[in-house]
Amino acid sequence: MRIKSLEEYHLEKENFEEKPENFWEEKAKKFVWYRKWDEVLNWDFKSANVEWFKGGKLNITENCLDRHLKNNGDRIAIKWIANNPNEKNIELSYKELHLQVCKFSNVLKSKGINKGDRICLYMPMVPELAIAVLACARIGAIHSVVFAGFSAKSLSDRINDATCKALITSDGGFRGDKITPLKSIADEALRSTPSIEFCIVLERTKSTIDMKDNRDFWWQDEMKNVNINCTPEEMNSEDKLFILYTSGSTGKPKGIVHTTAGYMIYTQYSFENVFQYQENDLYWCTADIGWITGHSYIIYGPLLAGATTVMFEGVPTYPDAGRFWKIVEENKINIFYTAPTAIRALEAKGNEYVRKYNLSSLKVLGTVGEPINEDAWNWYYNEIGNKKCPIVDTWWQTETGGIMISNLAGINKEKATFATLPLPGIKACIVDDKGAELEQNNIEGKLCVKYPWPSMARTIYGDHQRYFNTYFSAFPGKYFSGDGCFKNEEGLFRITGRVDDVIIVSGHNLGTAEIESAIDEHQNVCESAIVGYPHNIKGNGLFAFIICHQKPKKDDEINLEINNLITKHVGPIAKVDSFLYVDGLPKTRSGKIMRRILRKIASGITEDLGDTSTLLDPAVVEKIITEVKNNK
Ligand code: PRX
Repeated sequence: MRIKSLEEYHLEKENFEEKPENFWEEKAKKFVWYRKWDEVLNWDFKSANVEWFKGGKLNITENCLDRHLKNNGDRIAIKWIANNPNEKNIELSYKELHLQVCKFSNVLKSKGINKGDRICLYMPMVPELAIAVLACARIGAIHSVVFAGFSAKSLSDRINDATCKALITSDGGFRGDKITPLKSIADEALRSTPSIEFCIVLERTKSTIDMKDNRDFWWQDEMKNVNINCTPEEMNSEDKLFILYTSGSTGKPKGIVHTTAGYMIYTQYSFENVFQYQENDLYWCTADIGWITGHSYIIYGPLLAGATTVMFEGVPTYPDAGRFWKIVEENKINIFYTAPTAIRALEAKGNEYVRKYNLSSLKVLGTVGEPINEDAWNWYYNEIGNKKCPIVDTWWQTETGGIMISNLAGINKEKATFATLPLPGIKACIVDDKGAELEQNNIEGKLCVKYPWPSMARTIYGDHQRYFNTYFSAFPGKYFSGDGCFKNEEGLFRITGRVDDVIIVSGHNLGTAEIESAIDEHQNVCESAIVGYPHNIKGNGLFAFIICHQKPKKDDEINLEINNLITKHVGPIAKVDSFLYVDGLPKTRSGKIMRRILRKIASGITEDLGDTSTLLDPAVVEKIITEVKNNK
């Protein structure tokens, strides 16, 4: 299945261009199906409806687990590395993982979970999280993993949006020298989640927690006397596999829905090709399973390929900034996939943390989540890869399910700061503001995809109209990513960042609307506007322009209160870095905040702010600039 040379790469591109459906059908044949599909593709971007491999029946865990048992049952499927460097690692072979998944599937079934039920997982990075994900998939329950850094409010909103029937959590989670009290956060969330019938709690940190009778059950107890066999549920190709929430530019987070067959085919295909995975390679993706990268490239892609996937519970800087490199040396990692924000943060700690370790096992490096600047790219290439490892700069999104634009490691050209080219099978294009496709090189515009791909999101849970409006209405007939893109003179793609009101901070997508509504909860706040500005480590920092009823005399206190409110409503991943208390915000006559101007001011530009003639009150801008100068 793997493309092994530049010739094969071009051939694959041609095959796809000539007969796109055949191209994907060939990939699909490699999997175990209970019933073959009747139709490869049925699509209509005008109504945002896409179906792949209709009529087919399968189970993704049969393909992740059972398929490998005969020949590779003893191969390690998950190698888990604890937060505490002195705690023993856990290795789960494919056989053992299969067993655990079957057992937990039966636990869920015994508690009344059926095909189609939604289950929320709010867990630390422990093997049981992967087991729970796969158990849901095995019995046809739809998993909704909520990142364990989210607040009680974010958790209950997500549970309620998908009317989840059960919550799987743990007493707590280790992260560096801290413990996240997951069960008590969950308890707070569960006060307002009427759909939850029961909660399963894994013992991990041994923290003191409350267990509610008839609602809360210990994972370890439930797993004791349960049947070890579980036949996988026969799923239709288009049955929902999971929901994963992502921030939107307006309103509440969107429950992105992925379905079974297409997601399976594309995650394996992209995993093997982009990383050039070869049998017995040890692969480590440092993401959290709470994000799409963890779903597609810690769990599904690698397991479908029969790989050994490393799962790390901790953080890059605990006990010190050499932790990643220590893990690479000790385990002889071959393929390493991380985020630019981690690269920048570790670079800033100094090379002595890297040079202590032998990183010669590394063959391929990857990055994801935000644009990587040239400096960070060079450091990664020189210091981590020792100038011999190709870097794959992989552009994709929660909504795309898998990597869309990237070089294939060592196969086609790489270039610092460029994601380079769409994978064979992906028709990406750049359009101008009116939606006209810009086919020439050396242009900049908005990044779209004009033909369906198997792992694309199918809808937003419970709100197909929002799905259509968000992705298919701006440029009819095309999927619009929300990103800007530059194509250089060789036709290589460089992602320039979001063009909507989503800000990527340390690789996390944050919606301005969510943060602003948390700030507006403060009793002294009338209105606020959040924008991003360049930040050395985080990529973007958050800058808040705030109008108060009474302008604060001492900023520190209110700044802290506001950040606490954001932590409460969104989670500790979002924090404002710079505050400015202003008398007014620049608004158009229709009442829209002109963020373009605020973005410039936040990044230190106070002249040439562009056209301000459409503002209701252009004098507001001058006042803000005066505030900025006074504040320095
Ligand atoms: O702006 C792009 C940025 O991350 C966004 C998607 O975020 P999320 O859904 O959280 O998924 C992140 C992991 C796939 C994109 O719209 N992004 C992702 N990868 C890159 C990137 N920006 C530049 N270069 C990348 N390689």
